[in-house]
Amino acid sequence: MEKLIIKGGHRLEGTVPISGAKNSALKLMCASLLSPEPLTIENLPRLADITTLIDLLNHLGVTVTIQGGMGGALKGRSLTFDAGQINDTVAPYDIVRKMRASILVLGPLVARAGEAIVSLPGGCAIGNRPIDLHLKALKALGAEIDIAEGYVRASAPQGLKGGKIRFPFVSVGATENALMAATLAKGTTIIENAAREPEIADLAACLNAMGARIEGAGHETITIEGVDQLHGATYSVMPDRVEAGSYAVAALMTRGNLFLEGAKAEHMQATLDVLEEAGGIITVEDGGVRVKSNGHIKGFNVVTQPFPGLATDMQAQLMALACVAEGASVITEAIFENRFMHVPELCRLGADITVTGSSATVRGVKALKAAPVMATDLRASMGLALAGLVATGETTVNRLYHLDRGYERLEEKLRAVGAVVDRVPA
Ligand code: EPZ
Repeated sequence: MEKLIIKGGHRLEGTVPISGAKNSALKLMCASLLSPEPLTIENLPRLADITTLIDLLNHLGVTVTIQGGMGGALKGRSLTFDAGQINDTVAPYDIVRKMRASILVLGPLVARAGEAIVSLPGGCAIGNRPIDLHLKALKALGAEIDIAEGYVRASAPQGLKGGKIRFPFVSVGATENALMAATLAKGTTIIENAAREPEIADLAACLNAMGARIEGAGHETITIEGVDQLHGATYSVMPDRVEAGSYAVAALMTRGNLFLEGAKAEHMQATLDVLEEAGGIITVEDGGVRVKSNGHIKGFNVVTQPFPGLATDMQAQLMALACVAEGASVITEAIFENRFMHVPELCRLGADITVTGSSATVRGVKALKAAPVMATDLRASMGLALAGLVATGETTVNRLYHLDRGYERLEEKLRAVGAVVDRVPA
């Protein structure tokens, strides 16, 4: 195990190359199961979650080959996923428990192989996270669903049939499972109240490049005309809007000036709006977004929402910002029921936060003071690392493996723009 040691108080300035989006890359990799021909995915981030999914895909029979780009550069790499033969339709507990996104093999497997047996992911640090909407969607496409001994079995030996899916509320994962499954279903599928996250549009664009017929991705209603078979393609992952947003917060907190190379403002407008209100000067430049501090940080009130609202994946980082803002901020988490696990840890750094139900009132303090902290999930860890960047003294962030799931080469990228940070054995 490793930990991060951050010496606070250094202004960040320079360029941060933004990696390919974890939450898109994982779904594109699952999409490779839909075709007997290889899918080459470019700009894949080097992250623990990507490795976990490679293990799962290998287990199912997918051959994965690296196309180069393994050097020290901060650029992503290209991998080819060849699902010519699916040897196994079981996603075992030992892999799924490491990463909930493994549930995204369910739709592609049942669509292509007629059967999928996937371990139930169970709860996680940020909430219950049931998969009922994923199952409802597959049932609407004609799959039979059984749950036994901790596994869900979806079967459609004669193939899936197009159908109408109306989600009672927005789910990113359920929309993605439905979208992938419907590409090979017979006839037309209509998904209503679909998630509109940019990662959905990225997945649909990749599937269309593979020969799918999807319209409306990125909007509330998506229409999919099923096709008999998908073919191979090469597709490049979109930039990671949450990574970009996290560095944008770092720029503000350290009164710095960062160019987020590759970031797309339209993917993160809600975050940029909050940062502007808090004292950021945001400019969209050629090839990225610049975030500069105006020298002050003002408190703000936010509520997390599905896209285009403020991403729940930015909540912990914005809370770190609120900790050092002038005045009070109210941060309401409306997506997950238990996503305030970073609060007691931020308080260990001297933050003043009171949680009432799903809202946290954060009263800005003059300075945070370093302490050892530990996090329970990925974005919470980033919130703590950001707090460490401005805390006086040396903050230790334990359980670095959470950060390694979603932030590619965090300490290298931070060091390159002036942070004093080290990864050491725990
Ligand atoms: C995706 O999770 C992301 N993960 C999450 O990012 C992100 O926080 C979340 O979307 C919301 O934006 C990946 O893309 C791998 P949901 P997902 O289904 O798809 C409830 C990170 O830090 N729900 O949109 O699992 C659910 O419990 C991660 O990178 C049901 O009740 O999220 C939650 O309250 C964390 N039944 C809400 O819907 C279902 O069947 C939204 O979840 C499915 C979801």
